[in-house]
Amino acid sequence: MVRATLSFPSGFLWGAATAAHQVEGDNTNNDWWAWEQEPGRILAGHRSGKACDWWGGRWAEDFDRAAETGQNTHRLSLEWSRIEPSPAVWDDSALDAYRQMLRGALDSGLLPMVTLHHFTHPLWLAEKGAWHSDDIVASFERYTRKVVTALQDLVGFWVTINEPNVLAYGAYAGHDFPPGAGSMPKAVRALRNMALAHAASYRAIHELQPGALVGIAHHIRGFAPAKPGNLLDEQVARLRSRVFNETIPRVLTDGKFSMLGRSERLSGVAGTHDFFGLNYYTVERCSFDLTRPGQLFTRGSFPAGADLSPTGFIANEPDGLARALAWARRFGLPIYVTENGVEDPEDRLRPRYLAAHLRQVWKAVNVGNPVRGYYHWSLVDNFEWERGWTQRFGLWGLDTETQARLRRPSVDFYAEVCRANALSSEMVARYAPEALESLFPSHGPEGLDIERG
Ligand code: FCB
Repeated sequence: MVRATLSFPSGFLWGAATAAHQVEGDNTNNDWWAWEQEPGRILAGHRSGKACDWWGGRWAEDFDRAAETGQNTHRLSLEWSRIEPSPAVWDDSALDAYRQMLRGALDSGLLPMVTLHHFTHPLWLAEKGAWHSDDIVASFERYTRKVVTALQDLVGFWVTINEPNVLAYGAYAGHDFPPGAGSMPKAVRALRNMALAHAASYRAIHELQPGALVGIAHHIRGFAPAKPGNLLDEQVARLRSRVFNETIPRVLTDGKFSMLGRSERLSGVAGTHDFFGLNYYTVERCSFDLTRPGQLFTRGSFPAGADLSPTGFIANEPDGLARALAWARRFGLPIYVTENGVEDPEDRLRPRYLAAHLRQVWKAVNVGNPVRGYYHWSLVDNFEWERGWTQRFGLWGLDTETQARLRRPSVDFYAEVCRANALSSEMVARYAPEALESLFPSHGPEGLDIERG
């Protein structure tokens, strides 16, 4: 067999990502909690409940797990509704609890990357229309200032908004996230407001903390024509990619907000990201479908024979990550993979998914793409939004009844990668032997330092 070790640059960040509502539990004062109480909103009637009980203090044991398994960073989010339970009323005890959590991360050797907004809204803000309310930009800036003032001695690595595109489509174009508006014009307005709010937040953070690194965690989904060569399929795939993938990074770069024929320069938005945060999961095939104007005339699917996750949510398409990283490089910023992972309670697919995606990250680094870190989604199974507990993305499993954590084989695989700062053929042979030949072909990829055994 061929032996090779794919080493990452020293100082590379290895971690996992989580989000407040998905792990904390008892987040009763936000729009997701309310949504979960409405029949039919969440698959199987699931609710976030205690989630992973981080608000009860179990973040400490999970940070220990992360640190003991070689991770050196953790991406987490803050719950706005805890910090500002009513307009301009601040709960300092919530900020203290986050201070403890961040101090705990640092004490365990995990550099915190902190997301200010990850899908949820305080109820008072949701009632005002959240991303449609007139003062959302000012509200987000005020919240940012409060948080950064309180936490800046512990954090200098900020994500303002997680996946504005997923939030805009899920909540405003579609029906999966609250308020389920089902209107494309509403999604466009929400996205525009997110760009403005991000920029206001970016400037506020830099004013308070000039050395901070500030960005967005941007979801790039691959879109490919279902039938290559079919002009209509190719066109809708391109259109979806332009609208979904390109709008946000472009506006943060040059200030031009272009969507569906409308183009406008947003003042103060150009040049407001210090890094490119990239969330990547899969590639979707697009077929032209005249009956779906709301989905930009597209029917999405995965090809027959795709290497699918158990609920059919994700296809294992590592080349899509390679393309996303190559595309992100044009912005000339350091890149962090801020999310990547797969739902897989039995941990059958995860090891090869992880191996194949890390190999693409390594390849990107080796052609000079400035990828500086990788955050696996997720550390422990958590509440997967409208899919409830039906999907399990954790390296560790979670028994929601007992709060017991279950060590999946991927824990040890990822630990070896993090500790060695490298992915080796030998690790893949042990954790994902079925992927060995495709990832480390016997004839050997060119340019590698290869030992033949
Ligand atoms: C991303 C979200 C994250 C999680 C993963 C599976 O879109 O940012 O909260 O739900 O998908």
